[in-house]
Amino acid sequence: MNWKKSQNQQDDQQQQELVQNGKLPLHLAVIMDGNGRWATGKTFPRLNGHREGIESVRDMVKASSCLGIKYLTLYAFSIENWKRPEYEISGLMKLLETFLVREIDELHENNVRLNVIGKTSSLPGNIQQILSNCMEKTRDNEGLVLTLALSYSGRWDLTRAMQMMALDVRRGSLSPEDINEATVSEYLNTKELPDPDLMIRTSGELRISNFLLWELAYSEIYVSDVLWPDFRRDDLYDALRNYQCRERRFGMIPAQLKKTDPDYQVEDIPEKESYFQKVFKAIRKDS
Ligand code: FPP
Repeated sequence: MNWKKSQNQQDDQQQQELVQNGKLPLHLAVIMDGNGRWATGKTFPRLNGHREGIESVRDMVKASSCLGIKYLTLYAFSIENWKRPEYEISGLMKLLETFLVREIDELHENNVRLNVIGKTSSLPGNIQQILSNCMEKTRDNEGLVLTLALSYSGRWDLTRAMQMMALDVRRGSLSPEDINEATVSEYLNTKELPDPDLMIRTSGELRISNFLLWELAYSEIYVSDVLWPDFRRDDLYDALRNYQCRERRFGMIPAQLKKTDPDYQVEDIPEKESYFQKVFKAIRKDS
């Protein structure tokens, strides 16, 4: 099914307005929260919330793809989620498997490239195999890059990156003086993704919950009170309209951002010599 053709006129119009109104995020990241509360509020088992949450995933992927958003990253399972009761974990894994097996052809038809971040070696073997097949099948697609964060946590990724950097220093292929912010980004699971421009969290919780800790440094954050299984494209459009009204200053002052303003500055800020680089230089001089 071609997602663009299946849109209705009203939806088409909303999307056109969003595209014309201003900048859309290049990278949208989402903490999908509230599945459990959605289910218990209806006296259903928690897994029903996750099952309905998959409908929201589907709608989000289609709407983002049609809008031309290039990167969508969904926090589907954190390392901390392994502490949940066994039946909930196995239910979630089954749902993930069903989602991937059922949706991969449609994702592929619509030019979506599937990507995964996280400690995938902890996932059940069959899921690892399916994920690798899906990534292989969609690897040349040039549309939306859909990244699933699975068995992921920001601290895990940063710790892993530091270990890898330390190993490369020991091997001699990396020198400590050369480590800067770009180097750290290169060692993270997200190295092929730009930092998120917008991060949406559903269900009204005001936390980052160990998601993309490094990458969210300058992302705009939008918290919706809607529980994830009820969060559909109209809620996404609200978030995007809100994002379009934000002024992203990246630590500068408003005048520096407006081309018409005499204080407008376009030059790149030179990267200052870091504290550590100064220390290393001093050590070298002494020795
Ligand atoms: C948080 O809600 C949600 C999760 C831990 C899992 C999210 C998974 C899905 C939406 C389905 C599978 C995903 C894909 C990509 C196929 P919660 O259970 O913490 O909710 P609560 O805070 O209300 O208890």
